[in-house]
Amino acid sequence: MFAILLISQMKTFTLKSELKSYLNGIRKDKIVSFIPTMGSLHEGHLSLLQKAKESSDVIVCSIFVNPTQFNNPSDLEKYPRTTEIDINILTEKKCTILYLPEASDLYQENEQAKQFDFGGLDNFMEGEGRKGHFNGVATIVEKLFRIISPEKAFFGEKDLQQLQIIKYISKQLQIPIEIIGIPTKREESGLAMSSRNKLLSETGIQKATLIYQTLKYIKENSDNFTVDQLKKIAIEKFSHQTDVNLEYLEIVSLEKLQPISEFKDANENAACIAASISSVRLIDNIIF
Ligand code: PAF
Repeated sequence: MFAILLISQMKTFTLKSELKSYLNGIRKDKIVSFIPTMGSLHEGHLSLLQKAKESSDVIVCSIFVNPTQFNNPSDLEKYPRTTEIDINILTEKKCTILYLPEASDLYQENEQAKQFDFGGLDNFMEGEGRKGHFNGVATIVEKLFRIISPEKAFFGEKDLQQLQIIKYISKQLQIPIEIIGIPTKREESGLAMSSRNKLLSETGIQKATLIYQTLKYIKENSDNFTVDQLKKIAIEKFSHQTDVNLEYLEIVSLEKLQPISEFKDANENAACIAASISSVRLIDNIIF
């Protein structure tokens, strides 16, 4: 039985110095797991918490809307923030520690994202369309890893490129940590759970289901078509839906995230989509 059951009241820290010294005091012989978030929590985040609980004594969640990963200021401004509700959810779900910093606890004034080499994992998809995004993500994730020094960190597979990049940089930076990817949680309609879904209207939510339907179609038809044929058919599906703007649809190798011309073995391929519905940008993927 893990000691998390003994620590019933969630502790909240806004200062990294206090968080660090608290962790130093309690961590001996304990497994500390970390779930970084930007808040606006949903079932997807809770599935990470649930999974973390199975193998940890202490669970640290962070809520921080990281400015350096937004290349579009209006996207940063619009990003949903529901801190009070998030705190209640984490308390109810028995998270051990919440780190809820102001930007000044993590960044110097005017500090920019550090520049990383992601070994080509950022060449396509999010890395291509959102210049600097992954440098911002890696900058904050490295900072958080160094503050918390967790044994494990949990990330959703919905952000597949982010997950692979974080695995990669953790190795590059020689941070002793296990990065665990958790399958995407979906609504009954198949729509991937995302904080951004809160910005969609009812009609938008219905239209957004095209993303997962298309991904599923690709997975189910990968024996019937070549990669190119399947990509064409899948892209075509978006041209019939009004208000859904396809930004990219790529079929890539899971390991390197490079577009492929022939399918690899089972579970080594991924289809990835980014699309905007009434200017709300959603991403999703399927591994097959
Ligand atoms: O996936 C997210 O919510 C963010 O990119 C992360 C990992 C918390 C870094 O800000």
